[in-house]
Amino acid sequence: METRSQWGTRAGFILAAVGSAVGLGNIWRFPAVAYENGGGAFFIPYLFALLTAGIPILIMEFTMGQKYRGSAPLTFRRMNKKTEFIGWWAVLVAFVISTYYSVIIAWAISYSIFSFNQSWGEDTEAFLFGEHLQLAEIPGQFGGLVPGVLIPLIIVWLLVLGILFRGVKKGIEMANRIFIPLLLILFLIIVIRAVTLPGALDGLNAFFTPDFSQILSPGVWIAAYGQIFFSLSIAFAIMITYSSYLPKKSDITNNAFIVGFGNSGFELLAGIGVFGILGFMASSAGVSIEEVVAGGVGLAFVVFPAIINELPAFNGLFGAFFFISLTLAGLTSLMSITEAYVAAIVDKFKITRSKAVLIGGGLAALVSLIYASRGGMYFLDNVDYFINQFGVAMIGMVEVVLIAWILRRTNVLKNHANDISDIRLGAWWTISIAVITPIVMGYMMFGLFKLNLLREFDTESGNYENYSNAFINYSGWAVVIGVLVLGIILALTKWKSDD
Ligand code: PHE
Ligand code: NA
Repeated sequence: METRSQWGTRAGFILAAVGSAVGLGNIWRFPAVAYENGGGAFFIPYLFALLTAGIPILIMEFTMGQKYRGSAPLTFRRMNKKTEFIGWWAVLVAFVISTYYSVIIAWAISYSIFSFNQSWGEDTEAFLFGEHLQLAEIPGQFGGLVPGVLIPLIIVWLLVLGILFRGVKKGIEMANRIFIPLLLILFLIIVIRAVTLPGALDGLNAFFTPDFSQILSPGVWIAAYGQIFFSLSIAFAIMITYSSYLPKKSDITNNAFIVGFGNSGFELLAGIGVFGILGFMASSAGVSIEEVVAGGVGLAFVVFPAIINELPAFNGLFGAFFFISLTLAGLTSLMSITEAYVAAIVDKFKITRSKAVLIGGGLAALVSLIYASRGGMYFLDNVDYFINQFGVAMIGMVEVVLIAWILRRTNVLKNHANDISDIRLGAWWTISIAVITPIVMGYMMFGLFKLNLLREFDTESGNYENYSNAFINYSGWAVVIGVLVLGIILALTKWKSDD
């Protein structure tokens, strides 16, 4: 019996996959990562990671989902009963990420509104951490809920769960058909305005000027791989889930290239826009680019509002366009992460989609309240670091090693993809999956464990962001270990069907 939902059109699937890939990572993570890791020279490790890990793994996950037609746990189970737990790990990582990703979208919604009268004032940093987030003094201290975050957070969850309720075709596909073109238009307006600002060229020079001195340092390559994994939403259960809704005869390889290059194209666009604006800021405030560049939350919610204050004409609109872009990019990604666990619940426990959305999404919404409380931001920052570094990188590595060396499915998957795709896979794909990616990822994981376990960060405590050992343990390691243990427990629970 084939009752699984399906995408309405090929374009619908591609838009949804692009919607998942294009997210906060493109807009605020890529420009900063590229700049810090050699500017123009970063494109070498970045392209290498895209072509030997990003696109090959994307093809692999598309093929797995399309062939085995299941959420991540079901897909892994259908390959081999003993490997179901890996699917659950990926699903649980997706769950954890959705709980804080939603909160950042909530901030973006608030900031879209603040843009109109620049309510953040002169000191944008004090505004973000003081008034908006009401941050506690010490990491680990929690206070009550912050209304300015809570209200938009409720809107975020109502929107996303509402869309998921409507199903794959009428919900996810339809929303992406509206949100993605809208995002592209708004973002193009921002970029065009950005590069025509006085001083923009200096910013672009700073961004593109290659610094080859770092090119051989392992850190630069690790950064490139990390960016590619996060940015393409691979090793998160998402792409497996989305491709499980593909019809029996669908192209895989060409679709993967479109999604991979589309996502990178958007990253490049974001880099140009962000650095054009930073160049303007540097020239008008008389500071160097180095002084204004900062990645992550700081870039979007501190540096940008400050710049928007300085922009000539249609200020409010420019700011609103930026934060609405952030919101749209975030929402389409959040839909995909949430769908990853909704689909897993439906498959395993044989409950209706609506119930799964209510239970899974409801639980995530509840957990997200932690980050909407005073002091929640440190928690968000540390959970994000640990779950990305250990969760995603580790699952990515386990996934390729398992498929290439333990289950030995590379040829089976390759033949399946070749049977239905426009482009034929050959040695490039096999070597990337079986040799290059495992070696690079293994090396990365080793360095990562060493850095964190031996406390080799360049901080007083030796920990990430100088957090205390206790804080690192309960908001970092405990979350990672919790995911691993719970994943195994879920894999051991009985199936409500005979799959
Ligand atoms: N790919 C998204 C981005 O670049 C992030 C993301 C990761 C979304 C995992 C969903 C799942 O922002
Ligand atoms: Na991305």
